[in-house]
Amino acid sequence: PPRYPRYTRAEVAQHRSPSERVWVTYGTEVFDVTDFVELHPGGPDRILLAAGGALEPFWALYAVHGQPHVLELLRDYKVGEL
Ligand code: HEM
Repeated sequence: PPRYPRYTRAEVAQHRSPSERVWVTYGTEVFDVTDFVELHPGGPDRILLAAGGALEPFWALYAVHGQPHVLELLRDYKVGEL
């Protein structure tokens, strides 16, 4: 399996807009979802609410994400681990 670089939550928090890249965490994994922002079925504005931080508080409110195909999609954008 590939070995990913490690990042701190402070480093992830520096990536909060498309111009500085959009990173999110899920569990202990880090994802660069910049290229997915405009493809998000829930719209770019909502996905950007989670930019620079954890997905869990948002996904707890929008249960549509609790499906295998959503996690499979996210896996394609993995760039690191906390
Ligand atoms: C829908 C992915 C972040 C709100 C979806 C769907 C996907 C997706 C694949 C369609 C699911 C389906 O219908 O089977 C993602 C990914 C995210 C993310 C990969 C982060 C990297 C967020 C955030 C919010 C959000 C942070 C809210 C603040 C929604 C809503 C829908 C949705 C409301 C339903 C849209 C509709 O069907 O009208 N998302 N999402 N998403 N997402 Fe996200």
